Amino acid sequence: MCGIIGYIGKQEAAPLLFNGLKRLEYRGYDSAGIATLDSGLHIKKEVGRIDDIHSKLNLTDIPGTLGIAHTRWATHGGVTKTNAHPHVDCNGNIAVVHNGIIENYQELRNSLDSSNHQFKSETDTEIISHLIEDTMKKGYNFEDATISALKSLEGSYAVMVMNKDERKLIAARKGSPLVLGVANDGYFGASDIPAFLEHTKDVVYMHDFDVAVMSDEGLKILNILDNKQVDRKIDTIEWDIAQAEKGEFQHFMLKEISEQVDTVQMAVQQDKKIIDDVVNDIKNAHGIFFIGSGTSYNACLAASYIFSKINKMHINVVLASEFPNYGHFLTPKTLVIAVSQSGETADVLDAVKSAKERGCKVISIVNVIGSSLTRTSDSFISLNAGPEICVLATKSYTSQLALFTLLSYALTGSYDEGKAKLTYLWNVIYQLTSATMRNKIKELAEKLKGKNNLFLIGRGLQYTTALEAALKIKEVSYIHAEAFAGGELKHGTIALIEKGTPCIVFVSSENEKQIISNAIEIKSRGGYIIGVSPRNNEVFDFWIKAPEANSENPIVQIIPIQILAYQLAVLRGLDPDRPRNLAKSVTVN
Ligand code: G6P
Repeated sequence: MCGIIGYIGKQEAAPLLFNGLKRLEYRGYDSAGIATLDSGLHIKKEVGRIDDIHSKLNLTDIPGTLGIAHTRWATHGGVTKTNAHPHVDCNGNIAVVHNGIIENYQELRNSLDSSNHQFKSETDTEIISHLIEDTMKKGYNFEDATISALKSLEGSYAVMVMNKDERKLIAARKGSPLVLGVANDGYFGASDIPAFLEHTKDVVYMHDFDVAVMSDEGLKILNILDNKQVDRKIDTIEWDIAQAEKGEFQHFMLKEISEQVDTVQMAVQQDKKIIDDVVNDIKNAHGIFFIGSGTSYNACLAASYIFSKINKMHINVVLASEFPNYGHFLTPKTLVIAVSQSGETADVLDAVKSAKERGCKVISIVNVIGSSLTRTSDSFISLNAGPEICVLATKSYTSQLALFTLLSYALTGSYDEGKAKLTYLWNVIYQLTSATMRNKIKELAEKLKGKNNLFLIGRGLQYTTALEAALKIKEVSYIHAEAFAGGELKHGTIALIEKGTPCIVFVSSENEKQIISNAIEIKSRGGYIIGVSPRNNEVFDFWIKAPEANSENPIVQIIPIQILAYQLAVLRGLDPDRPRNLAKSVTVN
């Protein structure tokens, strides 16, 4: 995944692009670059994080009121300056930034090689600038040549292109996110709204195969499937830049954990008609699948326990990447609920595509409105969580849980009761995210920071919390963490427990007796027991009080461990917002 941004207007482009890039850095951060236009094209790019590159090259010091920029997460070609974007054609006249993967890149490159094009990088992106150059040489203008190049691309792209001889910025998307910003003094295009949010709240969500041509004269959008100009409406977004900035917090991760006091409430502020429609679809379905990846999958799994318990309903929960194995169960009466924070995860989009091909109805639960998933689903429910910048999913997870819980209540005819209970949770979340709790968990993190392994157990809903908690700890602290259903650890893995091995035990009043006896089994082999529980117990070496919240326990009990994962990362000298090897949304299979 990479981040792109472009600007044309009255202001100097480079400072706007630089600030935008910093807000897109969660999408990739191995190299970055900027191109601007005044009397000629100027390009600066380098390997490293944006701030480091800026200290070295002064990225804001390039002239021009038109420009494009990119922050990269390498897919095609290693992490080198040459492979960093923008990429240009043979003569350095056409500059391109791209997010996505061009699948027929080799084929296109072979044919361009045979027309003597000189490639500098190993990227798939570079072919775009050469394709445009090639077509312009045949007498086409920049706009038509760009459209012709886009038509020959297979795979996914969000691209922004500029050319040294014209004040035009061209943006296009197919399968990768791209949003336009309409400001008073110009236009933006970017992978995500926070990149330009401080300049405008008026946005245009581009559709697949849309090509936007922005100039000083205005904005025109064509759809290249039928080459017709299209009218895309301007939406005004409701959240503001403060929600996309760190504010008083040192990291987005901690900010987003703390925001849960509001976001859980926001998740249940839904149009009742939308919830009623989904409830009807659930009632009328013959076979229901909840699908997602990573944290979103864990939310699906927790929801399946909730639906089993409250609604006596069996839900098939499948990892989006494993969904092809279930194709033969799908019929036009099957309902698929696809869950994704970003709405751009390739595994989820592919699963949805295959479900639609079999005639299934697809409803999605998504945070990023205008994302590919919101457009490919029959309908969607918004998480309303605001931008989640940290690579780790925290607030989007509890919003997903809140929404699923609301649906479960609505299915039993208790929508108002469910909404009230979930809204009231703010009180508990407020305590769990308070400075007192954070300090207490920091004490625990000090004890655990040097450990190489830890285990987590829970039964029923608490098992699903253990899975998500293990994922959080692994992703950000790089400590190996493994979750088990309470009864399972003794079937083999208990062999790994030795003196001081930490084990986090999630307890609810409902299964207290059984899980405490599992904790005793571990403690008697030397384990260090951390209880996340409504009540203290003598088996706990460390107790984190999490009030009993019944079906809402998954929302309540994950929060202390999100904080623990954060503290562990900080104490181990790691950057919680940008864990190694991870991307916020994985747009490749
Ligand atoms: C990536 C992220 C995870 C996330 C998963 C699903 O792997 O690193 O944090 O849970 O994608 O993302 P989605 O946007 O579909 O919820």
